Amino acid sequence: MPVDAKEGDRKISPVLPWESPGAAYVPNMPAVRDVSLSRASKFILSCLMVLWSLFLALNSLLRGSFRTDNTRGLLHPSINSTVCPQWDALYPIINTQIDAELDNIFASTDFKLRTIDLLAGAVRIPTESHDNSGPVGEDSVWDSFADLHEYLERAFPLVYAKLNVTKINTYGLVYHWQGSTEAKPILLTAHQDVVPVDPTTVSQWIHPPYSGHYDGTWIWGRGSCDDKSEIIERLVAVDTLLRHGFSPARTVIIAFGFDEETTGFEGAGHIAKYLEETYGHDGFAMLVDEGTGLDANFGNNIYFATPAVSEKGYLDVRVEITSPGGHSSIPPAHTGIGLLSLAVSAIEAIPYTPELLRNGTPFSTIQCIANYSPSFPEYLRTLSRKAVNDDSALARLKNALSKLSPATEALLMTTQAVDIIEGGVKVNALPERASAVVNHRIAEHSSVAELQQHYIDVLSPVAASHKLTLRVFGRVIVTGDSGEITVSTAFGTPLEPSPKTPVGYGPYSIVGGTIKATVATSKLYSGTSVILGPSLLMRTLTLLSFAFPCHIDDGLVAENTDTMHYWNLTKNIFRFSLVTESDHYNGVHTVNEALRADALIEGIRFLTKLILNVDESALS
Ligand SMILES: *[C@@H]1O[C@H](CO)[C@@H](O)[C@H](O)[C@H]1NC(C)=O
Ligand SMILES: *[C@@H]1O[C@H](CO)[C@@H](O)[C@H](O)[C@H]1NC(C)=O
Ligand SMILES: *[C@@H]1O[C@H](CO)[C@@H](O)[C@H](O)[C@H]1NC(C)=O
Ligand SMILES: [Zn+2]
Repeated sequence: MPVDAKEGDRKISPVLPWESPGAAYVPNMPAVRDVSLSRASKFILSCLMVLWSLFLALNSLLRGSFRTDNTRGLLHPSINSTVCPQWDALYPIINTQIDAELDNIFASTDFKLRTIDLLAGAVRIPTESHDNSGPVGEDSVWDSFADLHEYLERAFPLVYAKLNVTKINTYGLVYHWQGSTEAKPILLTAHQDVVPVDPTTVSQWIHPPYSGHYDGTWIWGRGSCDDKSEIIERLVAVDTLLRHGFSPARTVIIAFGFDEETTGFEGAGHIAKYLEETYGHDGFAMLVDEGTGLDANFGNNIYFATPAVSEKGYLDVRVEITSPGGHSSIPPAHTGIGLLSLAVSAIEAIPYTPELLRNGTPFSTIQCIANYSPSFPEYLRTLSRKAVNDDSALARLKNALSKLSPATEALLMTTQAVDIIEGGVKVNALPERASAVVNHRIAEHSSVAELQQHYIDVLSPVAASHKLTLRVFGRVIVTGDSGEITVSTAFGTPLEPSPKTPVGYGPYSIVGGTIKATVATSKLYSGTSVILGPSLLMRTLTLLSFAFPCHIDDGLVAENTDTMHYWNLTKNIFRFSLVTESDHYNGVHTVNEALRADALIEGIRFLTKLILNVDESALS
């Protein structure tokens, strides 16, 4: 029942001391209270009412002069917020029966051991993704994927009997589970490949990297977390639903790429094309891929569930200088290498600036943290809440977040890192070419075009003052006769920041409500409240790392997920895995990758509830 839904004109409830003006809604408050009041209590009540109205009047007077009081306070997880809307746990209604039956099955030791075996078997097949693999079908490096296919077919006979399985570009897998209606299908994706195990680190593994060893708590091996677990979870969810006679109203599609850890072009790239041809542009109701999870750093035993609703863009830029060669006994003031240094200095002297836009995902995430995280620093909470409608507070918040850590700053801006440099061949010869490669992650609010323009702005003065021609992504900007600066794409194709998944009522609230239902009924996570908030995926940090000690991974690979190929399939893309950081023994892409076996079961519970919830929801 709404207490007050308007942002600027909020009341403070006398019964909820921690409720601040940000509270807009008290869920589950009965609409009608069936109480008969005695005369005495009626009198006391009216006195209270008078006092209360006086307090409110006074409060609104004071607000004029002490605006900050209006923006403090932490919300209890049971209180809704207009800036970080929450949804109640969502349980299947039509399918209550089967949901309950399955939860019983999932709780059994027998089921758990069988599922652990299934994952262990998949981990034992080393489907490594290498940067320089030859073409699919020619290079034998891909053969292990055929082994994985055979394994999955043996392990899930019922799935293979009831679903149509299509192989795309040889090793991509697409499972089609026909629904009884024309409703748009749900798409669940994961990837079959794993990052290679560095041979020099094998001795550091507690259990061998491809052992799939189960020690009673952990399932060990490369891929146990990223991403074989998600493959097994999806197939087990479908298998168990099939065994219990469920037949979907809404078609379910499962797709597994096989080179996510490199670029995804061979796997997800081809699968995307097939899916778009088969199911149409925007042909899916929603997509759930690997991604962020449950963050336990929120404080007070609250999990922060952050389905990633967008990803940064990506571009590697080569800056190349060509200049006249010659003998180095008569050198110019700047050789090509000197000129390249000037260009690099100019690039670093004018970095991108952080932006905090109210309609951007980072702002939404911050609002959720500010409203609900007990551990968030009070000064940032105050500032964040003021920033909702105060521009100067917004600017101060942006500065505060940028200074907090390199990770928060990176969340708010396009980053640049000059990572490769080369040039020169001989000590007595002037270099005729020299080049550097700059790695960029493009901010959600920006674009490839803005990045290209930035190069024009930064390098034009360098070109002009040294009489160089400047060519930026094929366009000649400045001409000169002493050489040339060429700015171009170094590798691959430029990737724009992803579209933003809508975060209102609909797919987002179903995913959020399903997360809450899964955690609320979980033995592993029992008693933990969940706050739902959208996030921008940055794979190298946990979202709350700015407030708490950083957990930055080894930075081996931190590119985009396979979803970058799937934008045409649906507007509702969620990158989320129901898992906490403590369910990983030691992170991913590093030694001692191991998954808590109980978390594997939770992942299956989440996906099963999601399939059931989505099945009985009318989504346009
Ligand atoms: C929370 O608020 C949002 C909008 O502010 C509303 O759509 C949603 O239904 C509310 N959730 C609950 C559980 O009341
Ligand atoms: C599988 O494909 C066949 C042939 O295309 C089709 O007739 C059948 O309905 C499909 N079955 C399912 C479960 O999708
Ligand atoms: C998405 O659709 C657009 C327009 O139809 C097309 O140009 C583009 O290639 C598609 N993208 C992918 C990744 O398939
Ligand atoms: Zn992955």
